[in-house]
This record gives sequence, structure tokens and C-alpha cells, in this order.
Amino acid sequence: MSATTDASMDRLALHGGRPVRDRPFPDRALFGEEAERLVVQTLRRGWLYGPGGPMMASLERRFAQLYGAAHAVACSSGTAAIHLALAALDFEPGSEIITAPITDAGTIVPIIYQHAVPVFVDVDEHYGMDPADIERKITDRTAAILAVHLFGSGSDMREICEVADRHGIAVLEDCSQAHVTRLDGRYLGRWGHVGAFSLQQSKHMTTGDGGVVITDDDAAAERMRLFRDKGWERGRHGARSYPMLGLNYRMTELQAAVGVPQIAGVRAIVERRASLGARLASRLAAVDGLRPHTPIPGCEHSYWLFAFEVDGWDAEGFAAALRAEGVPAAPGYTGKPIYECMSALAERRTFGSSGYPFSGGDGRPAVTYGPGLCPVAEGVLRRQVTVWPNEAFAEEDIDDLAAAIEKVATLLARAVSG
Ligand SMILES: Cc1ncc(COP(=O)(O)O)c(C=O)c1O
Repeated sequence: MSATTDASMDRLALHGGRPVRDRPFPDRALFGEEAERLVVQTLRRGWLYGPGGPMMASLERRFAQLYGAAHAVACSSGTAAIHLALAALDFEPGSEIITAPITDAGTIVPIIYQHAVPVFVDVDEHYGMDPADIERKITDRTAAILAVHLFGSGSDMREICEVADRHGIAVLEDCSQAHVTRLDGRYLGRWGHVGAFSLQQSKHMTTGDGGVVITDDDAAAERMRLFRDKGWERGRHGARSYPMLGLNYRMTELQAAVGVPQIAGVRAIVERRASLGARLASRLAAVDGLRPHTPIPGCEHSYWLFAFEVDGWDAEGFAAALRAEGVPAAPGYTGKPIYECMSALAERRTFGSSGYPFSGGDGRPAVTYGPGLCPVAEGVLRRQVTVWPNEAFAEEDIDDLAAAIEKVATLLARAVSG
């Protein structure tokens, strides 16, 4: 029987009512027989090291093909991928990188390790980076805009690239949450100079941990290959050569063996998520007090997370009521903007007691981060609830999710009014 017609709708499960959902939602089924075959083949080959291995080379070739990019460079994580993209630019210490306030720490940490200062711009109603705020925050120290595509949908790359072109600034894209997702028919990650992807467990395709960068720029690709490999220029005879600084951010053959077979299917995963997400969004759009996250016009939504805002209720209480109804839910993704979550920013805890690169000097004031920096983002996070349907859900699972959210909204509204 449909959850919407039975007695489970009378009282919140939190208050002793019957939960809308009494069985778990489906798990993702990511790794099929081909992944098993390639992992076993790799083990039997006895070569797990990425350089010189066929799996990493195959992953890079197929990933580049998928996105129509000249180069793909595989690495150990999304954080590493963003670090590669930044290192490709070779900017001066003390430069500024404009980026998003709602994101994972993996977007921010590499900026600081490249001795640059993250400059946060506020979000628009679609949770993308506000192009007007980007333009306001450009200074003579701005080295790049690092655009973040949140929850499976894009920042407005049309406008962001226009602003960047006007000022002669590079654009990098963090596509960790938005694999093979199109804006105006072009994949996110193909608008900027470099697109960076995380292949961490929760992502549209995953190697447990892992990352990839894509670019058409030969010189940037070469710098990124060196940077992930301690700066080592391999394949030369005689003394070793390390023409640039780098870290060890290499992907292993086992990671690549798991990733290779997913590349052909990741777009189908995105399309399935887009369809299920749209179904849920249209159900919730009709409910008073709820605002499902919408993409910017012209952009797909691949629903890495499904977010909605609640008006008039506390997001934490709403998420707790949903969990009692049998729906895994959380308030506000990161809870607070990333500049409040990270002590490196909020308290300048970086390198020893230096506070570097936020300590100012040379006639510049110290950089401070705190509440009020991005008021729209701060408000969104206070009102936001997230749930995480995946491509293994059936339409009925989505309908249960919708019924539970609708029930919580309706009964909480009744409690408030009566
Ligand atoms: C937007 C975004 N950027 C960067 C990262 C960092 O990726 P990783 O965890 O693979 O280092 C993540 C991972 O969750 C992310 O969601």
C-alpha cells in the first residue's frame, strides 16, 4: 500500500507514529564482474604501481575520451586533483584563489598548501558561485577562479568564464560532485582550463579514493603529471631530473582497475539520478514551506545529493524527524560554510605559529574569515536538509522519500499553527 494513504501519515514517527518507511533503501551496485576480472588480472600481473601499469594508462585514456579532453591525469584523490590543477598554474605565493563557501575541505586545503589565500564568494539561489560577487572580489593578486559545482549541478560557467576572460584570469573547475553533467550541452569540467574530479566512495564513479584532472593544455598536463610524481621527469638516462616540486599523488593499478569499467556506465548513472531527482523535486515543489534545490537554467542536475530548504522550521529538527520516518537525512551538508568549519581558516592554524598565508604584511592587513562573509550561503546552510537517493532506487523508493518529507512538513506545520 502506498505510504501516503495509510495511517502512518497521522503522527510523526518521532512522536510514536508509524514510520513511512520500515525497510532500508537500496544500496548502490558499483562493482560488477568486469571490475572483479580486472582486479584479479592486475593482482596476477604483480604490478600495482601506477607508472608503467596498463590500468592507469587505460583509465586516463578512457576518461579523456569520455570528456573529449586532450589529457586526463589520474591521481590519488579529489584533493590531489585540485592540488594538481593549482600547481599547473605556477602562481606566486600570496596569490588569491576565488572559490565557493559551501564545499568540501578538499577544495580549500590545496590552495593553502600552494601558499595562496582562498577568497570566498557568495552563492546564488542555485548554490552556484555568484558571478557578480566574483567580479567584485577580483584584485591584482587573483590568480584563478576555482569554480565548485555543488550537489551535481553547475555554477554558471558561461558568466564565470566571461568575468575571467575580462580580467585575464584562469578558471579551474571542481567537478567532484558533478561528473558528466552538462551545462548548455558542454560537460562541466570542459569550461575552464582544468577540470578536477574526485573518485571517492560516494561519487558518481568511484575507486574508493582517487582523482582525475582533464585539460586540453599540453604544458599544464605535463606540469600535473610531474606534480603527482614528486616532480620527477622519468624516462631519462643518467642522473635523475626533478624540474619542479611535487608530491606523491599517484593512483595505483588496483584503484584504476576498479575505475576503468565504470567509465562507460557513468553517464547512465547520471541520467538515472537526474530522472529520479526530478521526480522527487516535482513532488516537493508542491509542498508548502519546502524549496528543492534547482539547477541554473541550461544545466543538468546529476543529484550527487538532493538538497531542499525548509522555511519556518529548524533544519536539524526536520532531518531528525525524517530519520525517524526511516529516511536517512542530515541538516545543511557541511553545516556551516567551510571557512567556519576549518580551523586553518577560522583561527589561522596553518604552519607553526606563522598564520601564513593569512598573516598580512607588505602593507596588507591580515586575512580574517568568520560569520557574515557569505550571508546567502550561511542562510542556505541554516535552512537546508539533504537526503541521498541513488541510481539503484526505484520510483517507489522516491515516492516513499517524498511521502516522508511531505508528512514531516505537513505535521510540523500543523504543530506550529495549532
Ligand atoms: C566538492 C568537492 N571537492 C573536493 C573533494 C575532495 O575529494 P577527496 O575526498 O577525493 O579528496 C570533495 C570530496 O568529497 C568534494 O565533494
